[in-house]
Amino acid sequence: TEEKPLLGKKVLITAGPTREAIDPVRYISNHSSGKMGYAIAKIAKRLGAQVCLVSGPTCLQIPYYTDSYVSVESAKEMFEAVLEKYKEYDILIMCAAVADYSPTQSAQEKIKKTQDKLILELSKNPDILEFVGKNKLPGQVVVGFAAETQNIVENAYEKLMKKNADVIVANDARKAMGSDENQVYLVFRDKPTIMVEGKKEEVAKELLKRVCELL
Ligand code: C5P
Repeated sequence: TEEKPLLGKKVLITAGPTREAIDPVRYISNHSSGKMGYAIAKIAKRLGAQVCLVSGPTCLQIPYYTDSYVSVESAKEMFEAVLEKYKEYDILIMCAAVADYSPTQSAQEKIKKTQDKLILELSKNPDILEFVGKNKLPGQVVVGFAAETQNIVENAYEKLMKKNADVIVANDARKAMGSDENQVYLVFRDKPTIMVEGKKEEVAKELLKRVCELL
């Protein structure tokens, strides 16, 4: 229908940062607030979808507007949560700022400051978007995000192809993080790029409207 274009559709969204443990009290993370992913979840619900939000640690309240909410910490946990669920969903929106690397070994005990130099070895995390892009089922629409600081649209298109996504939402990393507003480019496989600017909920609305056209 006009107001509920996502009625009967299931949307899986990842949001927020991940935390990669160094030892029991320390971690590697980033400044993602989770606001964009939570805004998408809220609007998807409003448009009639059944919504699952897989969220890393954020300061946001656990939303009342999802049908299911999975709280995770690390990239590996987020990957496992998505892996378990993604096949049941029509739309997969990978909005989380997943840490690219995590400590190869997280120490069992708190690391003491006895050494003048401490070398931390990092290993690459699984790329969740790339996994769902490459394993998507017929009819599934996969949306990724790209935080860039230069050549935003070109880099986003490259990401779209590499990860086999259907849409990449590209933004300027310096403007997006933590803010209530966003300016993004929606980059498609074979449609012109669209620029959208406004509150994160407005950006979410435009994104979901365009995703409906791809279903
Ligand atoms: O390659 P890059 O990290 O710039 O790609 C960003 C996109 O990939 C985002 O949609 C993010 O959620 C997703 N991603 C992921 N798993 C990772 C790294 C990024 O799902 N390990």
